[in-house]
Amino acid sequence: MSASELLDLLLRWFHVIAGIMWIGNSLLFNWLDRNLVKKEGIDGEIWLLHSGAYYQIEKKLLEPGQMPDKVHWFMWQNLSTWASGILLLIVVYYVGESAWLVNPGEGHVAHTTAIAVGIGTLIAGWVFYDLLWRSPLRHRPILAGAICLAALVAVAWGLSEILAPRAAFIHVGVLLGTLMTGNVWMVIIPSQVELTAATKEGREQDRALSLRAKERSIHNNYMTFPLIFTMVSIHFPSAYGHHLNWAILFSLMIGGALVRHFMNIRFHFPYWRSAIIASASLALLVALALMDRPAPSAIDDPALAETEPVPFEEVQMILSERCATCHGETPSDPLFSAPPDGLTLERPAEIEHTARRIGIRVESETMPPANRTHMTDEERMKVMRWVAQGAPVN
Ligand code: HEC
Repeated sequence: MSASELLDLLLRWFHVIAGIMWIGNSLLFNWLDRNLVKKEGIDGEIWLLHSGAYYQIEKKLLEPGQMPDKVHWFMWQNLSTWASGILLLIVVYYVGESAWLVNPGEGHVAHTTAIAVGIGTLIAGWVFYDLLWRSPLRHRPILAGAICLAALVAVAWGLSEILAPRAAFIHVGVLLGTLMTGNVWMVIIPSQVELTAATKEGREQDRALSLRAKERSIHNNYMTFPLIFTMVSIHFPSAYGHHLNWAILFSLMIGGALVRHFMNIRFHFPYWRSAIIASASLALLVALALMDRPAPSAIDDPALAETEPVPFEEVQMILSERCATCHGETPSDPLFSAPPDGLTLERPAEIEHTARRIGIRVESETMPPANRTHMTDEERMKVMRWVAQGAPVN
């Protein structure tokens, strides 16, 4: 295992654990808020049974001077998730000759330009979002929300034009994570610091700060599911490799936010209303899924199957030149010390066995990653024709 692979593994492991702790806490607190039972003198109370004992939790504001010695804050899970995510972004996409950031060749930006675009998007994204929600527009949340969504589509589209598709997807995810982290550290925590200071000193708490914290916390709540979607999306080349990948990303994010919305409101609504909203959200998701259905694959096209037969030797040559640098018993590409996904594309039997996947990845141009081995369009077409012809190995 190379040093960069080891670093990738350790960071990813850490990142997933921190992420589970952060999002898990956030979901638990949201759940608590919705299930509290109103009680005289406090905001609410709830009893929980877990791991063999009862927990009694009360939600309330404290009287001045009532500050307990120890109060647990929930902020490090967020920071460590974000920080490990940024490090992963650097290790996987920015450092060295990463295979994922940009497609090489004409019409594509240089590696350093792509990094600048990526980092610039994160910074500009936060500044834009934060200023918008501090401006008078924040009193019109629907309009401000619509502007944010429009800006997000523009970012998703712009990035997918400049970066390799997988990198575009992950940058949109990192942008959401950055907004959420900014909300925690620049808005929510400062307001909590002020709240605790006011409680200790027996002062009135500034309601405006508290409301702003609540507003940002609601934003974070809605960004959670879309964020998680983008993080797992890189396992789905048919999503990020689609020519309308930015639209797919956008509709799945809206779907994720809607699911979250339903989880948020279902407790306060009569059942029939919940049922209507649930079916409307579901119908929208299905409609979006149908709209996004990729065009039928060329490898299933009879017209392609009827073209002049492609000899297997030619396919094998192409794969050995363009793929086996990674998908070989001992990869020559310095990025990999073992074939990725354990997949080698050298022996006829292996090639035959994976023919369909090869066709899909070659057609969607998600393999070779960022066209690292400069596969030509003719070569792609040849491989696709061979797959369409039933992938004969003689
Ligand atoms: C620079 C290294 C590299 C090259 C060159 C490369 N791949 Fe891959 N391949 C990977 C990595 C990394 C993965 C695992 C991540 C993923 O699936 O995106 C992978 C996974 C795959 C998979 C398994 C996942 C799936 O979709 O079923 C297939 C099939 C595949 N590659 C086909 C190809 C073909 C065909 C070529 C040549 C045209 C090729 N690869 C060239 C790095 C490479």
